[in-house]
Amino acid sequence: MKTIIEPFRIKVVEPIRMTTREERERLLAEAGWNVFLLAAEDVLIDLLTDSGTAAMSAEQWAAVMRGDESYAGSPSFFRFERVVRDIFGFEHVIPTHQGRAAERILFSTVCGPGDVVPSNTHFDTTRANIEATGARAVDLPCPEARRPSELHPFKGNMDVDALEALLDEVGAERVPLVMLTVTNNTGGGQPVSLANIRAVSGVCRRHGIPFYLDACRFAENAYLVKLREPGQHERSVGEIAREMFSYADGCTMSAKKDGLANIGGFLATNDGELARQERDLLILTEGFPTYGGLAGRDLEAIAVGLEEALREDYLQYRLASVRYLGERIAAAGVPIVQPPGGHAVYIDAAAFYPHLDPLELPGQVLVGELYLEGGVRAVEVGTVMFGRRDPETGKEHPADLELVRLALPRRVYTQSHVDYLIEVIEAVWNRRERARGLRFVEQAPVLRHFTARFAPLERER
Ligand code: F0G
Repeated sequence: MKTIIEPFRIKVVEPIRMTTREERERLLAEAGWNVFLLAAEDVLIDLLTDSGTAAMSAEQWAAVMRGDESYAGSPSFFRFERVVRDIFGFEHVIPTHQGRAAERILFSTVCGPGDVVPSNTHFDTTRANIEATGARAVDLPCPEARRPSELHPFKGNMDVDALEALLDEVGAERVPLVMLTVTNNTGGGQPVSLANIRAVSGVCRRHGIPFYLDACRFAENAYLVKLREPGQHERSVGEIAREMFSYADGCTMSAKKDGLANIGGFLATNDGELARQERDLLILTEGFPTYGGLAGRDLEAIAVGLEEALREDYLQYRLASVRYLGERIAAAGVPIVQPPGGHAVYIDAAAFYPHLDPLELPGQVLVGELYLEGGVRAVEVGTVMFGRRDPETGKEHPADLELVRLALPRRVYTQSHVDYLIEVIEAVWNRRERARGLRFVEQAPVLRHFTARFAPLERER
């Protein structure tokens, strides 16, 4: 059969609400052109994030009912721990309420001022948690990652030569750990190859540096390895995932992605002494080590979700929907980060609106236009998110790339939703020449994209 179907049927439905163009014009203006400030009920197709937005399965809901809420020693924890050990292979498993809590505990235990933590690309909470300890977060993506339209199977890879050069420059003793984000979210949802994981791990072992994976989208990464890496096609995704983790000393995980859960995460390591220190910190802010800021029912949902995320019929459907969206809009001429990655399609807004300067915020313009056209909510990953305003001169500095991320929640939308989305994007593409830029009206000094307000620039005569 040619058609790849959703490998599930629908048991519970959640209505979504159509709005009129006039309503959306009013709502977007009231939100200051910032879609974070819209009420979710006013959004028809919500692609803001793939985090915590998955539909849980009947088995997960059944597991929720089995959740045991004992403060200490809950059987739900031991089920969760068994699944995590089985898939990830690490000895010590520390539950946290989400990924960034695992990051905070890890980095505040191992990092300090003057330290350097390299990664392919740090996610923004990872970077913020490293920098909060006084250490420096350094991105070392492979050169292909910087060229959106270039085809390459593993644009998530780290530049291993750059890693060696950095270690020579700063000294291995200043590097408490090296990280790889799989898949590389900020770099376009691109996978990291097994060969690259092995090579980075080899460098770390030679220098005696612990090596960690930011494992949020590990199942999607493992499936892309199966599809794209020579010699991997016949292996199961679970086997590939286990090999990925076998090269690492630990990981941080947000179960809101490939845990198919709406909340949760964990930190894992093979280092017993480190785990002891981390559990002490966990008790301080998250909770006792057998629940770590989660309810027993959450641990149950994650345990089932992690196994479901490795099912190949699910992954085949998941990757097919991302690819379908990416290929269809690219065929219409829309410039995207190629090839489409694991959880999202990224539109290159600078190429979409070549008549707009980066400081006219082309990504934010595109996000607004998608909402106006069809009630679709995407997110800007460009100058609004990563540019900065000089606090003294008020001068704006643009980001390196102007991207718009269309992140697909897991098991939530069907192919007709994606077809509708393609029509919306094509309509916005067809009138791209008429789009006007935006300017900031209000912005906060940090993480401004969440709360900033914008206004359209006057039309030129
Ligand atoms: N690492 C990566 C690669 C992520 O994408 C995220 C979250 C985190 C860590 C933090 O996990 O949200 O559970 O605390 N990414 C979400 C996103 C927010 O929309 O990409 P968290």
